[in-house]
Amino acid sequence: MQHRIERVRERIDKLAESARTAEGGVLRLTYTPAYKIGMDLVRGFMEAAGMTVRVDPLGNIFGRYAGQNESLPAVLAGSHLDSVPNGGRFDGALGLITAIECVNAWHDAGWRPPRPVEVVAMVEEEGTQFGIVMFGSQVLTGRMKSQTPELILNRAGRSVAGLLEENGLDKNAFQSACLDPSKFRCFLEFHIEQGEELHRRGLSCGLVTDIVGIYRSWVTITGKANHAGTTRMAARKDALVAAAHLIQKSFEAALQSSDRYVATVGSVEVSPGVINIVPGRVSLPIEIRSITNTEFEVAKDWLAAEFRTIDAKYGVQTEITKTSFIPPTHLDERIVSVLRRAADAAQVKYLEMPSWAGHDAQVMASVMPTAMIFVPSIDGVSHAPQENTHWEDIDLGLRVYLRALTELAGK
Ligand code: HGY
Ligand code: MN
Ligand code: MN
Repeated sequence: MQHRIERVRERIDKLAESARTAEGGVLRLTYTPAYKIGMDLVRGFMEAAGMTVRVDPLGNIFGRYAGQNESLPAVLAGSHLDSVPNGGRFDGALGLITAIECVNAWHDAGWRPPRPVEVVAMVEEEGTQFGIVMFGSQVLTGRMKSQTPELILNRAGRSVAGLLEENGLDKNAFQSACLDPSKFRCFLEFHIEQGEELHRRGLSCGLVTDIVGIYRSWVTITGKANHAGTTRMAARKDALVAAAHLIQKSFEAALQSSDRYVATVGSVEVSPGVINIVPGRVSLPIEIRSITNTEFEVAKDWLAAEFRTIDAKYGVQTEITKTSFIPPTHLDERIVSVLRRAADAAQVKYLEMPSWAGHDAQVMASVMPTAMIFVPSIDGVSHAPQENTHWEDIDLGLRVYLRALTELAGK
């Protein structure tokens, strides 16, 4: 059975064009009109591949390719359909189109696998709408059951419940969209590396062993808004200067960790935010990532000490208003070995490696055996319009993926 790389390319291009930005990137945020167009395209690709399609209460799309024995737990494959703002055409989308392509190859050949196979297009992996990464897979795996959809708001103040109802979905999706893990054998995700390891080594394929843990803390620093001209420097309680100190120190601490962990402050909200008022309040998210759990305790202790330092030095109050944590995840050796055998059989050289990007796979791994396969990102660029991967590499990665999925569905 043969995949058709030109069909993959056509479908990737169609998806990218449907959400194209002026800079040639992709903007497909969950529950937006562009997202709905993307959903329709994915449904069409799934149906063309001989799958029956359903949309779950959260808006995740499931395509099912029936097996000879429908009562067997299904092989699940897929990725996320949402993008970051002005992102690239491969992040998420490639995992959907390659999984659909494997099923399409079976459909073209008239092969009916012993075991059913499902492809899933998940919502909101990037966490752009609500600040919660891997949101779709967290709901699917029951991690959001205790949360209240009315209380989770996006930047515009819209709640999850409101957006679900507005999109004809179920506002109780945190309960109704949970998967029954007993109905699935495993989960696989095909993804671009988003780093430069494979590109630098000239390899076409990566087998992921571990996925990075992501700790996010939303910090508010409260100082005192005051007149920018009449307030003496020594009398100021400038929240933005305190934040600048914290951001600089976070960067330096992570740098000194020799990449045992990385730290990022991706946005800052300043209030009142006008030039002639000393900033009274600043809110910023600090994200820490590490492959090993111990580094998170080190980083949290360091953060707490730094909060005390800036409070004393700038006369401000620093507090953490919210945190989220997805632990680092070791992927399933048995499924990784299926990918390893498939790569050897396809004579595709690979690197076994960790992923410093977060993925739905690390959440799905909490309820079913999971593995990931990477293809290179040219110059390691991702989350930008310049994100790119050579089609020869995608073709080789697909050879491995098709073999692995065929083996997993075949018994
Ligand atoms: O943030 C990440 O690592 C992923 O691209 N969502
Ligand atoms: Mn991403
Ligand atoms: Mn992704």
